[in-house]
Amino acid sequence: MFRAAESARPADQRLFDDPYAAAFLDGKLKFGARLARDRFGQRLVCHYIDRNWPGSRPSVVIRTKLIDDAVTAALDNGAEQLAILGAGYDTRGMRLEAAAPIQVFELDQPATQDRKKSRVIDLDGRLPANIEYVPFDLLEEGVGVPLERAGFHSGVRSVYIWEGVLSYLTPKAVDQTLAWVARSGASGSRIVFSYVDISLLESNEAGAPEPPWSARVAKVGEPFRFGIDHRKMEEFLGDRGLRLLWDLSTAEALERYPVPGGEAAPAFYRVAEAEVRPGR
Ligand SMILES: C[S@@+](CC[C@H](N)C(=O)[O-])C[C@H]1O[C@@H](n2cnc3c(N)ncnc32)[C@H](O)[C@@H]1O
Repeated sequence: MFRAAESARPADQRLFDDPYAAAFLDGKLKFGARLARDRFGQRLVCHYIDRNWPGSRPSVVIRTKLIDDAVTAALDNGAEQLAILGAGYDTRGMRLEAAAPIQVFELDQPATQDRKKSRVIDLDGRLPANIEYVPFDLLEEGVGVPLERAGFHSGVRSVYIWEGVLSYLTPKAVDQTLAWVARSGASGSRIVFSYVDISLLESNEAGAPEPPWSARVAKVGEPFRFGIDHRKMEEFLGDRGLRLLWDLSTAEALERYPVPGGEAAPAFYRVAEAEVRPGR
């Protein structure tokens, strides 16, 4: 919904255009995306979202743009394949020009993936030739086996996207995934991921009232349960064979990517990029 609303903004103002985002919506959300296509409707829809989910929309819009740019730069610099872990309704394999000539692997739970595929077929009449859809459950089997079975090549310069997923995983699943990235990607491979800062989870545990965003995700049965201390990110990644390139909160990135309502983007929601260390 957030990406559909951003894509409906005028071409010279929006941070990106995701022409598929609205096609994944039903019911009230579909209606909202349609409403957002005119200027008054756009303001109304964003106002409604921002009142009910303060900070989430600009944060997701900013994180989308940060990741779009990082992935484009990595592909332009010679990465040969792209793996999107927990892809959900990520459409970068279809909408980023740099992704068109390369093999893209989308991993997700089968139900989400089936729904996504059927909406893409409704819109385009077919599935994109450059995308391999890989059904998997990260908590059951990890990413390596299903990806390699689907034709992912280890030892090749690769890009991995892990957006909006870490916060819902166990520490073990996070460690196993990062260890696999460090092992499978040639040196110089990149991973770009979003995460919540540990301070958010600690303050919730200490009894501080949950910010509305945490309360909302908990209410739909997907509470934030994993966070990283951004002050120790370099060490966290170093221990897992990766080198930190940059790490920004969506609030800090607002300066680079201004979005209406962006002042509410929280400091706890962050995006980072790392590379596989040379010589591994
Ligand atoms: C909040 S969505 C983010 C989707 C997408 N990356 C984005 O940023 O729009 C989380 C995604 O992680 C996937 N996911 C969560 N737990 C998973 C698991 N155990 N195995 C596989 N995928 C999982 C969900 O199916 C969903 O698509």
